[in-house]
Amino acid sequence: MIELNYRNVKSEIIGEENGLNIEEEFNNYKDTIHQIIADLNSNKDKPGQNLQWMNLGYNEETIWYVKEYAAMVENRFDNVLILGLGGSELGGQAVCEALLPPYWNFLSKEQRNNYPRIFFLDNIDPDQMNSLLNILDLKKTLVNVITKSGSTAEVMAQYMILKDRMEKELCDDYRKNVIATTDKNVGILKQLSDQEGYKTFFIPDDVAGRFSVFSAVGLLPFSLVGINIDEITQGIKDMDLALKNTDINYNIAAQNALIHYLMNTKKGKNISVMMPYSSRLRYIADWYCQLWAESLGKQKDKNNNTVNTGQTPIKAIGVTDQHSQIQLYNEGPNDKIINFLRVKEFDTNLEIPNIFEYTGISYLGGKTINKLLNAEAESTMASLIDYKRPNVTISIPKITPYYMGQLLYMFEVQTAITGALYNIDAYDQPGVEQSKNYTYALMGRVGYEDSANELKQKLSDTIII
Ligand code: PA5
Repeated sequence: MIELNYRNVKSEIIGEENGLNIEEEFNNYKDTIHQIIADLNSNKDKPGQNLQWMNLGYNEETIWYVKEYAAMVENRFDNVLILGLGGSELGGQAVCEALLPPYWNFLSKEQRNNYPRIFFLDNIDPDQMNSLLNILDLKKTLVNVITKSGSTAEVMAQYMILKDRMEKELCDDYRKNVIATTDKNVGILKQLSDQEGYKTFFIPDDVAGRFSVFSAVGLLPFSLVGINIDEITQGIKDMDLALKNTDINYNIAAQNALIHYLMNTKKGKNISVMMPYSSRLRYIADWYCQLWAESLGKQKDKNNNTVNTGQTPIKAIGVTDQHSQIQLYNEGPNDKIINFLRVKEFDTNLEIPNIFEYTGISYLGGKTINKLLNAEAESTMASLIDYKRPNVTISIPKITPYYMGQLLYMFEVQTAITGALYNIDAYDQPGVEQSKNYTYALMGRVGYEDSANELKQKLSDTIII
């Protein structure tokens, strides 16, 4: 199983001012944590609780439909293009980047075992989008439009551009190259899919976007590029079983949740850094940032008190960011808790050749890059301890579908428990909706006219469009 080591948040390691008396805190919060975990598990099937994400690993029907469709289109496409944003995109990209061989899109078809390349269009930068469209042969491209609300302006705009180009190139046949993933009842994409006859997958009710990676939102793209989704779901189930334990001493999600909560509320650590020592996990850090930020950054608690909760999540990559951010982490404000994400066994052992015998770099020869990477992580950790900066280590045995299922599910449960500790709703996003509505108003969507006038006043000096 994935492991959590929290030794370096203890006051005996980093001092009273910044550290926690862990045994005492675990004991103080024993009953609260027990109740939170018991509530999560007993409420997960109740409508309106937004806890359906806890059931996604067990959704045999979706898994079956996803596999059936992936088998049906096997060998038909050279490219898969994902259109989506935030929770509808980040998880898919994170897991694909972790599990596909690095530089997948540069490999030959044979090297990819005939599976397609995969592209994630996670922005609406006109230059980026245009360049991508110029590269892709649309006849050989399967476009998966993913939006839970079915109306996000950016995603619908991407879709409209794609639909227009595909229809011009493929005529009526273009419909076979489009799949929609959306809500089963509401939204413009659902209506369009019905009209156009696209193959459609549904995101279950009560699953917020950032918790949807194990619905068809993620499982379908994974399957299309040959990632074993049975192994992913096995990882989720095994982690789910482990995290049903209501005793904080045996539940790593509860431990890391409480550590983050206390570091924030008692020790002023307003920033949570996610630092994988693996390039393949870099998008997992992005996914975590969204999960942590959007779930926990809330103005009001459940009793309607103004609380303005949440830690700012930051992504850092080991070793890359040792050479950019670590100076700040060691000597800047002591306002962070750092999560090291470490991989015990890489697919490759890469030896550094012994080619310089009598130079200042000969000490590297004959060792492996793996050893150097580990030494770098350990030295960073040691220096953080010297500077009394709290840090935890999450260890992953290997980057496999099984462990990615475990890891992402663990972070979801950790986030849910932290939300309960803050007494906030971890599943809404009024701040995101606010700016989405402003965009609709500025772009002239019917029904948003008053808001548009108000906005123009508000932004009169700064507006540039
Ligand atoms: O987590 C969330 O709810 C958001 O990040 C959404 O996923 C994001 O705004 C995209 O929304 P939609 O899937 O409705 O297009």
